[in-house]
Amino acid sequence: MKVLVIGGGGREHALCWKLAQSPRVHKIYCAPGNAGIGAVYENVPIAVDDIEALCLFAEQQKIDLTVVGPEKPLIAGIVDAFEARGLRIFGPSAEPARLEGSKAFAKRLMARAGIPTAPFEVFTDAVAARAYVRAVGTPIVIKADGAVAGKGVVVAQTYDEASAAIGAMLEQKIFGAAGTTIVIEGCLTGEEVSVMAFVDGDTVKPMLGVQDHKRAFDHDAGPNTGGMGAYAPVPFAPQSVIDAVVNTMIRPAVEAIRGTGIPYRGVIYAGVMLTPTGPQCLEFNCRFGDPETQVVMPLLTSDLAEILDAVADVELDKIPVTFADRSAVCVVMASGGYPGPYATGKPIKGLDAAGNMDAVAVFHAGTKRNDANETVSDGGRVLGITATGESFDEARARVYAAVQKVSFEGGFYRSDIGAKA
Ligand code: AMP
Ligand code: GLY
Repeated sequence: MKVLVIGGGGREHALCWKLAQSPRVHKIYCAPGNAGIGAVYENVPIAVDDIEALCLFAEQQKIDLTVVGPEKPLIAGIVDAFEARGLRIFGPSAEPARLEGSKAFAKRLMARAGIPTAPFEVFTDAVAARAYVRAVGTPIVIKADGAVAGKGVVVAQTYDEASAAIGAMLEQKIFGAAGTTIVIEGCLTGEEVSVMAFVDGDTVKPMLGVQDHKRAFDHDAGPNTGGMGAYAPVPFAPQSVIDAVVNTMIRPAVEAIRGTGIPYRGVIYAGVMLTPTGPQCLEFNCRFGDPETQVVMPLLTSDLAEILDAVADVELDKIPVTFADRSAVCVVMASGGYPGPYATGKPIKGLDAAGNMDAVAVFHAGTKRNDANETVSDGGRVLGITATGESFDEARARVYAAVQKVSFEGGFYRSDIGAKA
């Protein structure tokens, strides 16, 4: 089959890499892709939110299945647009994608479905929001309703911090329409784990628990980023915890959505905090995680194309979703300055030396080919290098040996990815 993957980051490189291992797949396109994807598969110069152009491409090339990486086109209704034209696509339609597109929608659904989550209220008025914070006290968490690329969450330690966040979102409207509704919720503590599952509307098959590393620097210091690395499985989230997340969060959400008439199909991702009183749901995402996918795909022993086909055909109950009994660690190499301003266009050295290592995969994120045909940095997160091993020690030793072979001016990475495992 011919597959089109939408996106151009490390997650999409990992999806292409895994799909290429399937005997069913003979051609992989990626829109827009990146230098690493284009070197092996075929980049298509169409932006992820140009839904009309993506539909036309899929029609003209007779694509058998399209797989969507980022949330933006899902929330904008790419699945509805493809299906209206009889094109097969993997992902939820716009209505269920609101689980990620609107935090107020997600929290209300969690409350209705009895999903364990922090207590919350929804506000559009700053005076009422401040009064609520005065009444319940701090620390407290303020969240913009809409998707604002991971920047919409403020964990406020004091009333003044909470008040400033409320003012920024509701009065100064720093996120525009995405922040004119906010969710204020209780502050939880504990280790975080990401649990992704394949869903065909009915059957739920979980992947491995993954821990992301969101802060820029070692020991979880520095600003929040799109993710500086990940590892799987998570030793302190054993199968009993994954089962609890499936049974108390994912399945109830899928059932609540099915009750509204539009089944959830694709990947559902629960962001979970393991609190002293048990797992609590922080958020749902409507897609594969990044960089979670970069550690899950190398451990997946089933055929990804077969799974995606089964989801599209509502036959997920008929096929296995299995994982190797190994450990995986992904270290992100980022541009100096990220997540603030950074330079791009820096030539990257050592990619082949790292990529040729045993049990190592070099997934590109922000990279491109320059006019001199060199691979150069082209984003904040530039590469995600993953290694697997019989143990975490082996995977970590391998991944950092690979990372040390790669360099570009200003590039940095965390040296403690997977240390908690
Ligand atoms: P979210 O986009 O909802 O996952 O929030 C982003 C990050 O904010 C999470 O990964 C947590 O680290 C933090 N966070 C979100 N909600 C809470 C909460 N209720 N209590 C403490 N931290 C939270
Ligand atoms: N790694 C966090 C996310 O994909 O949302």
